[in-house]
Amino acid sequence: MRIIDLYTLPIMHSKLELDKNYQREMNNFIKEETSKPGAVRSNVNGYQSEDLDPLNNTFLNLLKDSFEEKANVFSQEVMKINKTLSFGNMWLNVNGYKDYNHLHVHPKAIVSGSFYCKVPEKSGPLRFLVNKDIPLFVSDEYIDTFNKYNSSWFDIFPTEFDTLFFPSWIQHEVRPNMNKKEKRITISFNFS
Ligand SMILES: [Fe+2]
Repeated sequence: MRIIDLYTLPIMHSKLELDKNYQREMNNFIKEETSKPGAVRSNVNGYQSEDLDPLNNTFLNLLKDSFEEKANVFSQEVMKINKTLSFGNMWLNVNGYKDYNHLHVHPKAIVSGSFYCKVPEKSGPLRFLVNKDIPLFVSDEYIDTFNKYNSSWFDIFPTEFDTLFFPSWIQHEVRPNMNKKEKRITISFNFS
């Protein structure tokens, strides 16, 4: 007898080395950007910016170059997609206490991801839902040990300056920030 594993889903993790100057620029950028009116994307409460212009900001430009290089490595070497990805858009997300982003995908992109600027304690995971209907078929109480065959979601708990890259079609949500005092701040992006 043997088990045939049908497929797996790749999430690429990368840590950016941000020196003090860039950290200062990041903080200045966040302060300036959040003083502008926000947009409505997948956020439930919290703040999401309009699309950012990386050409006008050295910190954003550094991020965009890093995202672009790594998104292409992910796409070409891991996912075996024979296309040079081009930058789509990037935006800022600020989640205060109990703010979250509901379940969504990133249409018209191939690789998406998020960079974690501020990750306070208890600020919640990024949750990928692959077989989200499993609980409709088998109740959690009957599952001895959660594993890749019986789990309806996988949580990833990023830390500061992490970037997570993932295929844009994977359903995901950002769980609520349960830190009462500090905000979770990320910059998300799309490449197509
Ligand atoms: Fe997303």
